Amino acid sequence: MSDFAFVPKHLGLIMDGNGRWALSHGLPRTDGHTRGMVNMISVASHAFDMGVKTVTCYSMSTENLNREKSEVDHILSLVIKYFDPFLEAFRQKRVCAKFVGQLELLPEEIRASLKRTEEQLKEFEDLGRTIYIAIAYGSRTEIVNTVNSLIEKGKAVTEQDFQSSLSLPHNLDLVIRTGGESRLSNFFLYQCAYAELYFSDKFFPDFGERELDEALEWYAGRSRRYGLVK
Ligand code: IPE
Ligand code: IPE
Ligand code: MG
Repeated sequence: MSDFAFVPKHLGLIMDGNGRWALSHGLPRTDGHTRGMVNMISVASHAFDMGVKTVTCYSMSTENLNREKSEVDHILSLVIKYFDPFLEAFRQKRVCAKFVGQLELLPEEIRASLKRTEEQLKEFEDLGRTIYIAIAYGSRTEIVNTVNSLIEKGKAVTEQDFQSSLSLPHNLDLVIRTGGESRLSNFFLYQCAYAELYFSDKFFPDFGERELDEALEWYAGRSRRYGLVK
């Protein structure tokens, strides 16, 4: 368990910089995505060990689907290639998995693999630890889809109704973005309303357990006021 006074309940990871990591090592961008996948499993596992309850990882945005087909196909193929290591890691930590995003945009075999992963880890659903993987995800689309689904129900909505209808119905506490950019890039805009934002210059494959601990230590020192005076 963690040495830090305050551990975020819900950690977001905007795992950026895979492509630049690969290019800086003279490798094709696709190798960076493979390294990123392996690193995601390890960094998320460490976060659970430190006491985080929910980890939400940004694996691929809807906008990323417009990259070159070979890169998109490679990123998606990792879902199948790392099916076993992913299951093994999170089964060991007793974590359930949920995939959020416009999954209908993905090839059938990828969707089937995501579904099987969810099913295999479903037994841990009530134990309080979840990894959400956002894939083919965009926050604006999520918000508009949620509005439309609520309009269909035909009643005025409260913030609570709205939030519980989102694909990720939980507020984020800490969001870490690697890769040197200080932006959210369409990552859970609503759920980040009061998140602490931590930006690291490291490319994601170089962001390991030590770097996560540094971010958690930084988080522990934040004063979260939610508009009040403390
Ligand atoms: C993040 O790494 C992973 C995805 C967006 C799929 P990038 O592929 O954006 O890597 P950079 O930012 O080009 O280095
Ligand atoms: C954000 O990274 C998406 C993921 C990390 C999956 P991008 O590389 O797509 O973001 P921009 O283009 O720099 O804003
Ligand atoms: Mg990027």
